[in-house]
Amino acid sequence: MHGVKISGIGRAVPELELSNDDIAKFIDTSDEWIASRTGIKSRHISTGETTTDLAAKAAQNALEDSGLNAHDIDLVIVATVTPDYTMPSTACSVAQRLGIKNATCFDMAAACSGFIYASEVAVSFIKQGNYENALIIGADVLSKGLDWEDRNTCVLFADGAGAVIYQRTNENKIVKILTASDGEGSDLITLPALSEPNRFNANQNTQKYVYMNGREVYKFATTAVPQNIQDVLVDTGYTPSDIDLFILHQANARIMDSVAKKLDVDNQKFFKNLQNYGNTSAATIPIALVDARAQLKKGDKLIFSGFGAGLTWGSMLVIWD
Ligand code: UT7
Repeated sequence: MHGVKISGIGRAVPELELSNDDIAKFIDTSDEWIASRTGIKSRHISTGETTTDLAAKAAQNALEDSGLNAHDIDLVIVATVTPDYTMPSTACSVAQRLGIKNATCFDMAAACSGFIYASEVAVSFIKQGNYENALIIGADVLSKGLDWEDRNTCVLFADGAGAVIYQRTNENKIVKILTASDGEGSDLITLPALSEPNRFNANQNTQKYVYMNGREVYKFATTAVPQNIQDVLVDTGYTPSDIDLFILHQANARIMDSVAKKLDVDNQKFFKNLQNYGNTSAATIPIALVDARAQLKKGDKLIFSGFGAGLTWGSMLVIWD
């Protein structure tokens, strides 16, 4: 079995920055409500940047960070629920933009857990010897699936992309990954796919935008995530208090504080940057990793943890190299 390490990271967000006060100008909400209920102060929203644009930019930054060349990459997975095209995959378009040739390329839909799910697949593939350098991107432009008159959702979600390159090594740094799902909660967060009536079927899905039952998702996250983190640490020799930094999906600061409390860990060990980006879906964890980098030291033990529509969730234990 081979080892795997992170050899490069990168991120990209659209230029337009929209504060809570900017949003309060066109819907009935306030900076006070959004900041106190979620921790979000501002976010980046596309004025034309596509999922592919952001994914390719984050990927280019990760590639430069790793010192690898485009021709070294042999696997590309884009975790997204907002692809620009159903076919070709976003991964193929990113490969084309970066000049990556002959790589295995596909997209993965696991919503806000997408980065962890894609990481599990890539790391397993590398460990078993099929690939050497995998480019994993979490990218979403959720703003195109938002009802900008629905204050329950449009103040939360935003656009961005984050990329990580996993590289085969002798010394393994990706200790363990554990993902899971519960389809019973599949109606709690939804965004319909293409649904045009055809000649033989006049039925059309009337839902157009993101729907979320926030309260139920909150209950799920604050229960499933601490348990999943405990589970991923089983047999690793570590307990939550040994972890140097927790990088969770950036959906709600209160969720992170609750998870910290349940794990009996100081909430200062939970990295937060959702105040600047909102919830960028599959992109939150790799974007947060880039922002957290300045405070990381070689050998630090990190937990990444994602959760969202499906319901899906997953965590991984990483040793920073
Ligand atoms: O990325 C996928 C994973 N997603 C998540 O993890 C999200 C999990 N859920 C949450 O983070 C929280 O449930 C929310 C932030 C979505 C909502 O916070 P909450 O404390 O659960 O609020 P609520 O839904 O219970 O709503 C409380 C009140 C309601 O008014 P009434 O019915 O009590 O009169 C809402 O209508 O707040 C109202 N409200 C708002 N008010 C001002 C809802 N959205 C807004 C808003 N501005 N934007």
